[in-house]
Amino acid sequence: MGSLPNLARRALETETPVMVQIQQLFRGVKDAMSLAQGVVYWQPPMQALNKVKELVFEPQISRYGADEGIPELREALVRKLHRENKLYKSSVMVTAGANQAFVNLVLALCDAEDSVVMFAPYYFNAYMSFQMTGVTKILVGPGDPMTLYPDAGWLEKTFREARQMPKVVTVVNPGNPTGTYIPEPLLKRISDLCRDNGSWLIVDNTYEYFMYDGRRHSCVEGNHVVNIFSFSKAYGMMGWRVGYIAYPSDVDGFGAQLLKVQDNIPICASIISQHLALSSLEVGPEWVTEQVKDLVKNRALIIEALSPIGKDNVKGGEGAIYLWARLPEEQKNDVEVVHWLARRHKVVIIPGSACGCPGHVRISFGGLPEAETAVAAERLRKGLEELVRDGMVH
Ligand SMILES: Cc1ncc(COP(=O)(O)O)c(C=O)c1O
Repeated sequence: MGSLPNLARRALETETPVMVQIQQLFRGVKDAMSLAQGVVYWQPPMQALNKVKELVFEPQISRYGADEGIPELREALVRKLHRENKLYKSSVMVTAGANQAFVNLVLALCDAEDSVVMFAPYYFNAYMSFQMTGVTKILVGPGDPMTLYPDAGWLEKTFREARQMPKVVTVVNPGNPTGTYIPEPLLKRISDLCRDNGSWLIVDNTYEYFMYDGRRHSCVEGNHVVNIFSFSKAYGMMGWRVGYIAYPSDVDGFGAQLLKVQDNIPICASIISQHLALSSLEVGPEWVTEQVKDLVKNRALIIEALSPIGKDNVKGGEGAIYLWARLPEEQKNDVEVVHWLARRHKVVIIPGSACGCPGHVRISFGGLPEAETAVAAERLRKGLEELVRDGMVH
């Protein structure tokens, strides 16, 4: 006892998952409200739930299915990729969520000695996936200070000056934790830079339907691009664990390598969950848009709650379910601020240091219906007013 147990460095040297820490904090504070986890408050479409209820007793639901996903779902997804994402040369692998999709990709694309690129503030789980698979040369590029968009100029310079070309560049669009999106010309520029320098580009499109104020989400395609999608947020299917990878059909052997990884992790995504995903797709994206459109009210409540720290310190809310805020200069310890807000004001948010940006916080506006968001927002506003006026008083 006392010394470190004989465990793998790949695990020991991976960050501790911030969500696990935050859930502990949340459970430890009676009557706390969470604006922390990236979740939505709705359930999957009722028609879809009713349909899978009838399937539960079918024998094939309890068997393993094809590693890459049940054929009906994959076919429906290929049609969806054509119709909605303008992806015409992509093959589909269904995974147990977008996070597993990302791990599959890191295992299929990266060797431990490779370097990879992310942009700050980054999605913490993607960072951890690199770390735990032994990829430790993680170059973190800046976001534009005004827009938080990934800095393509920095990427260009990094490629130009690199002694070792990054193997993978990854972005989230729209962003977690930034809540900003990547405009199409910028996404194309990043993609072209990757193509010209022999790098893969992984785009996580988990929040593709979460776009506000007339903005439009777009995808890029190419033999160097892999797109990730998720059913978790759009269809309220977080616990059902379904996502998918759209990888370039023309790259020989890519599917075969992905299958090796898939066969050793989930074998296949849960079959009943895949049927729910299929039925949800049949209900259609209009259903999702209908749910998402009300989130602007939650966003307005949280923006108002953040006003004590100053308008210029608040970004995001263009897409996804997040606002991103810079803490006042005198109160830069984001982890302490998050704990203080939880204990004293009973509202929980995420420290920016988990995303590579200390001194900031991420606030989610998707997890609670409007009335509850209003209560949580009021607590946040009071907390921030006190923080700015008196500091972290007890
Ligand atoms: C950018 C991003 N990717 C992936 C995930 C995980 O999605 P899934 O539930 O499909 O694994 C999340 C969840 O918060 C996310 O924000």
